[in-house]
Amino acid sequence: MCGIVGVVGAKSPINVIIDGLKKLEYRGYDSAGIAVINDKNFVIVKEEGKIIKLENKLKPWQKKLRNCEIAIGHTRWATHGKPSKENAHPHYSNKVCVVHNGIIENYDKLKINLQKDKSLKFLSETDTEVLPHLIEKHLIKTNDLKQALTQACAEIHGTFALAVIFKDHPDVIAVAKRGSPLVIGVGEKENYVASDFYALANYTNKIIILEDDEFALIKSSEIEIFNKNHHQIERPIKTMESQKVKIGKDGYDHFMLKEIFEQPRVLEETIQGYINLADSSIHLPNFIFDLNKIKKITIIACGTSYYAGLAGKYIIEEISGINVEVDIASEFRYRHYPFSDDNLMIFVSQSGETADTLASLKYAKQNNQKILSIVNVAHSSMAQLSDVVIRTLAGPEIGVASTKAYTAQITVLSILAIHLANLRQKISPKEQGVLLKDLANTGTKMTQMLDDNEIRNIKKIAYYLAKSKNLLYIGRSVSQITAFESALKFRELTYVNAQGISAGELKHGTIALIDKKMPVIVIAPHNSKNELFEKTMSNAQEVNARGGKIILVSSKKGLTSFNKNSKYKIEIPELNGIIQEALIPIIPMQLLAYYVALFKNHDVDQPRNLAKSVTVE
Ligand code: AGP
Repeated sequence: MCGIVGVVGAKSPINVIIDGLKKLEYRGYDSAGIAVINDKNFVIVKEEGKIIKLENKLKPWQKKLRNCEIAIGHTRWATHGKPSKENAHPHYSNKVCVVHNGIIENYDKLKINLQKDKSLKFLSETDTEVLPHLIEKHLIKTNDLKQALTQACAEIHGTFALAVIFKDHPDVIAVAKRGSPLVIGVGEKENYVASDFYALANYTNKIIILEDDEFALIKSSEIEIFNKNHHQIERPIKTMESQKVKIGKDGYDHFMLKEIFEQPRVLEETIQGYINLADSSIHLPNFIFDLNKIKKITIIACGTSYYAGLAGKYIIEEISGINVEVDIASEFRYRHYPFSDDNLMIFVSQSGETADTLASLKYAKQNNQKILSIVNVAHSSMAQLSDVVIRTLAGPEIGVASTKAYTAQITVLSILAIHLANLRQKISPKEQGVLLKDLANTGTKMTQMLDDNEIRNIKKIAYYLAKSKNLLYIGRSVSQITAFESALKFRELTYVNAQGISAGELKHGTIALIDKKMPVIVIAPHNSKNELFEKTMSNAQEVNARGGKIILVSSKKGLTSFNKNSKYKIEIPELNGIIQEALIPIIPMQLLAYYVALFKNHDVDQPRNLAKSVTVE
């Protein structure tokens, strides 16, 4: 999942590209590159690592290239070929230069064919490098840009968002899309292309969203869109909410820390967006199908969003009584799934662009399913393809490790659960009022987890865990999901092999890992009705018996009952119900991963090997 950006007709295209790439860095930061056409020659500058390194390398070129008016750029998340300058995009042939986001699945066969021409030299290990040679081959045959582009793309298996420039045609950028996101930006005297609107927000708020298997030739004063049969297509120009605002850290050291501290406000805004607490009423977007006819729900997502879906399962089943199945998108899209008419498909995604979740949505749509998406990015591909969209109102999430989007997703799934229960008279209006009040009170309890004392205690435990080679998290019911998500955060940020385990599952094998060096975080919220606290304590005893170092997460009552057996304690408030259990204990777990990563001098906002939006399979 890479980020691409291009501009034609701009006064200083290099600045536009660098600014755009910085906004796309969340999509991958293994290497970056730019290409301009200067006096009918390509000038290509690439660098391994972050955009800032490319920006510094370009400084001496700025003056020389000030008259150029066309440029394309790329920031990379390595799929084929290691992060290196050679594998950085753009890739080029004699007359064609390309930046690409996606995967060319049949690149090896295409390469063998192309290499029959012994004069061709391949300089990188990438799949992408076949593209400029393939397009040039068709350009020589057809001497027509459109034909060359569509014929080349017709030979490709896989996904792509492409931006192409031609040495002999310095006034046009050719673009093509299949599976990866791509938008065209409409300017005054110049036009743009990018992986998402955000990259162009400083230059235009007028965009055209291309669909799969659509192509365009973009000139400074003209945009021609066509399909694979070269039929001209009209696409609407959308005016986007201006996003000129520079998203800052508001005084926090990292976006991740800021986003952790934003969660009480995000919860409040999500509640204000969908609930009227005065009369305990819920106001969700209109459903174009009858929710009362829904007998089953299937939630599909990836990574942290998948865990939000799993927490949603527990909450929806407990409150509304509807059976919920949850699956990871990369598996679901290839399952022979028994679709049924009374099934509601829910797709959960922060970015709304994750390739596996998007492909699963398209699969469900092809099978006439009812599609609800819970996304954080309004104009994302998933939002456009869904019957109904419920936005998580978390605001832009910049930190690659997702935090506020997770709790916002669970909040939206909880509101949906209460709404479904009300529709089915599974709960009375009075009970709905109590559930909504408890949800509203969750914000205060979140804030409690962010006070200085809590942070001091978390830092102490983080200092201890920073030396650990392994870590286990255990919990039951929705706290098991908190254990899974906490372990994912810890892996993403600290590069330590942490695992989340269902506490009841421990004795069926994983307990073999436990010895005096193994820290085990036991997530055991204590509330009056929850008999699972005792069960979890028995599992904690099993850990204790093998010398494991227990870090207990519970309320005062819970901590007191297990006092002498825990090495460290993390106090959380007494919780009311399953929704608070899903939303509160995760906060100190996010902070723990953050501080251990900090103590290890890791790049907290852009951990190695990761990207914020995974737009390849
Ligand atoms: C979470 O911290 C990760 N960034 C990753 O697991 C993420 O949740 C996953 O890629 C899904 O992304 P999405 O919510 O944008 O679809």
